[in-house]
Amino acid sequence: MTIQKNISLKPYNTFGLDANTSHFCQVNSLLELKQALIESENIPHLIIGGGSNLLLTKDYEGLVILNKIKGIQIEKETDDHVYVKAYSGENWHELVQYCVNKNWGGIENLSLIPGTVGAAPMQNIGAYGVETENVFDHLEALNLETLEIEKFDKGACEFGYRESIFKRKLKGQYFIYSVTFCLTKRHQLHLEYGDIKTVLNEHQIKLEEATILDVSNAVISIRQSKLPDPKVLGNSGSFFKNPTIAKNTFETLKSQFPDIKGFEQAHGIKVPAGWLIEQCGWKGKRVGETGSHAQQALVLVNYGNAKGNEVYQLALAIIQSVKEKFGIVLEPEVNII
Ligand code: EPU
Repeated sequence: MTIQKNISLKPYNTFGLDANTSHFCQVNSLLELKQALIESENIPHLIIGGGSNLLLTKDYEGLVILNKIKGIQIEKETDDHVYVKAYSGENWHELVQYCVNKNWGGIENLSLIPGTVGAAPMQNIGAYGVETENVFDHLEALNLETLEIEKFDKGACEFGYRESIFKRKLKGQYFIYSVTFCLTKRHQLHLEYGDIKTVLNEHQIKLEEATILDVSNAVISIRQSKLPDPKVLGNSGSFFKNPTIAKNTFETLKSQFPDIKGFEQAHGIKVPAGWLIEQCGWKGKRVGETGSHAQQALVLVNYGNAKGNEVYQLALAIIQSVKEKFGIVLEPEVNII
């Protein structure tokens, strides 16, 4: 483990933004991570995995620690379930593929999400009707103060929509080291969301015969048709969260905008931010080196040479126009540095 100075973070964030960090290191084990933390005791640090949820608006003064701690193992097995432990630096989609190939079910709807295993519980990643919390058993995290490993079960993680305790109360205090998922041997498929059934049909797969591999393949083709590949066009997936608004506010908006979509939640109605942004005329619009993606307005992209601040200014302009038209304040999903 060596700490390097003045390194470009361009290869380490999926937006492809060219910001520098004053100090940088890669860690391959818990021991190396502890060494890095001890050696950099007096400067701030930022731990990154796949860099897929990051908007770098300026250079970073501190130590960026790139997590490459890897490994996948079975922790426990019953007749119906397998408990799979993955270390946090594993690539998320590679874990999904590994599990699908072993015929372990539960995360197939989360195929092709960029990023690492450590980010999955951090922001309770979700797609096509499944969220991390649905398959989560427990995790191990390093307390950055005491350098001791602590165990968190599901309740302790306080999961919410794209939220966990690690993004709120315990922000910056823990490093997620490993995550254990409870996966199925007898599967219950989640086919209700969006176009999954349509795509299975197109692939000529009967719904009652669909396997977790078929679902994974369907999700991959939906994502590829809507979401830009970060290797081709820099982006960090959905830039904003879908807002949840009060039921009466939704009813009022519905009378003004009959096409508005809403999904009933425990505490209100979730409205697709992509639709709101599209209605404000941003979809497919390019502003300098950045813009809103033509197939999915919720995704902001870097056409090649965008500066983080340029993307941030676009995000602010979008927030402003959605607020003016609908009275709803969008909240970014990405971590803005
Ligand atoms: N919509 C529009 N215009 C757009 C985009 C979407 O009208 O430009 C409408 C669609 O017609 C649809 C609704 O919005 O009725 C929902 O769209 P979609 O299924 O594409 O999902 P989303 O709500 O925009 C969320 C997640 C995605 C996840 C998909 C699929 C958030 C912030 N985003 O997007 O997650 O892949 O559902 O489950 O919750 C991510 O977090 O980075 C991400 C990509």
